[in-house]
Amino acid sequence: MRFVGATLGELTGTQLKNLCEVVGIDESAALRLLSDVLGPAAQRPLSEPPIYPSDVADDATPVEYSLQFQDDGSRRLRILAEALPAHPGPAANLAAARQLVDALADRYHLALDRLRSVQDLFSPDEPQGKFSWWFSFIFDASGAPKFKVYFNPHVRGADAAPRLVKKAFDRLGMAGAHETVHRYALRRDGLDDPVFFALDLDDSPHARVKLYVSQRDARPSDAQAAADAVPGIDPALVREFCAQLAPDTEVFTGRPLVSSYSFVADDVDKPSNYSLYLPIRDYVPNDAVARERIGGYLPQVGVDPAVLDRAIGALTDRPLAARAGLLAHISLRLSPNRIGTTVYLSSEAYGGTPAGER
Ligand code: TRP
Repeated sequence: MRFVGATLGELTGTQLKNLCEVVGIDESAALRLLSDVLGPAAQRPLSEPPIYPSDVADDATPVEYSLQFQDDGSRRLRILAEALPAHPGPAANLAAARQLVDALADRYHLALDRLRSVQDLFSPDEPQGKFSWWFSFIFDASGAPKFKVYFNPHVRGADAAPRLVKKAFDRLGMAGAHETVHRYALRRDGLDDPVFFALDLDDSPHARVKLYVSQRDARPSDAQAAADAVPGIDPALVREFCAQLAPDTEVFTGRPLVSSYSFVADDVDKPSNYSLYLPIRDYVPNDAVARERIGGYLPQVGVDPAVLDRAIGALTDRPLAARAGLLAHISLRLSPNRIGTTVYLSSEAYGGTPAGER
């Protein structure tokens, strides 16, 4: 297999098709959504530089793949993506994202009440920060995709982020959620920072509101303290996870650990889930080491590590030892009586994580 798509759309389309095969998912909805979100950028030759410095991935590729494993044996394939219009820029990308939400809502009958009730907060005329709205498309064996929208709390400037998050929770009738997040995850002034506010766009009772906090220079114990907010989970698993995936790291001084909470309608004060995202690419010498560590971890959550090699093979044939960045993050998901893990894989359409960034 060779990975020489002439355009961004061809390369990512091939990668996505391959991943669908690995996970056992019908490719048609996935490929259509990929081309929706890439817009005109799909036609762009890979010999030209990225049309916009998207922060979805380190090399400005506007998509990132992930494989989600749950301890009941279920698997999902996801795409994180930024919608790109013909002439990208902060305001134009926001407009493209809003249009895409409208198009998807018609096609997939999405529940937009909660999105509509907070969207103005995250949609200034002159967006700041690294993005305004991102998407995640989620595919499982059912064939019906699910959708998530991520808002940027920094979109009105970093200083306004805490206020914006508070307002958004208030509008959703979740003032208690905000207090919980403050108490457990925003403890270290100037270091803990809300970075994504996300909504599931479905109307099931399990539809979640999620807040993600980046924890600069954190120790595993800081992440564990954040996990204490969730009743019925074992926070010690957080430290074990860090110890196994980044055994030499006491303080995460590279790209930060990120902690997230999910809130659902029936208990707005107590999170139903805690997740930790570990940007493993900054804590390994190269992807061969990342693969070893992730491969050693997966069996503990009931996953055959062979699937990791198949997923890697779906994206690239480059030597893993050449550099780091293909395996971008690994996450741990903890809910009462349930544990899951997600592996995030880069397209590397534009060369992967630049060496100087690590
Ligand atoms: N590329 C960004 C980062 O690494 C955003 C991002 C993409 C991210 N996928 C992620 C952040 C998964 C946390 C977890 O920060």
